[in-house]
Amino acid sequence: MRLFGPRYTTVAPCYDLLSAEWPVYLRGRRAAFELLDLRPGERVLDVGCGTGLDLPFVRAAGATFHGVDASPQMLGTARRRARGWSGATFLAADATSPAVDELPGGFDAVVCTYALSIIPAWPVAFARAVGRARPGARVVVVDMQPASGPLRPLADLAMRLGGVDPDAHPWTAVEQRCTDVEARSFWSGHVQLRLGTLRT
Ligand SMILES: C[S@@+](CC[C@H](N)C(=O)[O-])C[C@H]1O[C@@H](n2cnc3c(N)ncnc32)[C@H](O)[C@@H]1O
Repeated sequence: MRLFGPRYTTVAPCYDLLSAEWPVYLRGRRAAFELLDLRPGERVLDVGCGTGLDLPFVRAAGATFHGVDASPQMLGTARRRARGWSGATFLAADATSPAVDELPGGFDAVVCTYALSIIPAWPVAFARAVGRARPGARVVVVDMQPASGPLRPLADLAMRLGGVDPDAHPWTAVEQRCTDVEARSFWSGHVQLRLGTLRT
């Protein structure tokens, strides 16, 4: 059973409520932005940005937000979230497609929160995104795997409903492509975070 289609099309209007953001997933997102420690004027590329739940963190830091998502419906909510702020741009595109290569390069940070594990060709999406980053950019991946212990059934259900590949482990790409990698784990290992500096 999968509640959210691959492009989160029908669920977009209620994604923020149904995604267990406040009780569960905000924890990994908040940790990612604390570690990123964005500076004013930095440019952030957000892969699979969805409804823009990362956007307030970027805006609060005085950085700019550049989101890519395959779902126009999810981007509709993200655009509403950015209303009145000139620091956000959005690209409706498959993150694995050459459209990403057309983005202006030199991003200071690449952020992928809870998105890569639902993209079957996630290594392609990751490679294209970091290909638009400047040397020495920070890269952060927050994503899911099965939890250990009593949380496991709930975590498994969340992943099944969300169409997550529990074996994707996309944070390994940060370990491979970056130096100074920091790791965090939440909810009995269910949420994994890796942040590093892109190798030059
Ligand atoms: C679970 S949501 C996460 C959204 C957001 N990053 C967050 O933290 O809330 C996954 C998002 O990935 C998007 N997505 C799925 N496949 C994609 C692809 N091939 N290219 C770009 N976005 C994709 C979906 O439309 C959805 O908005």
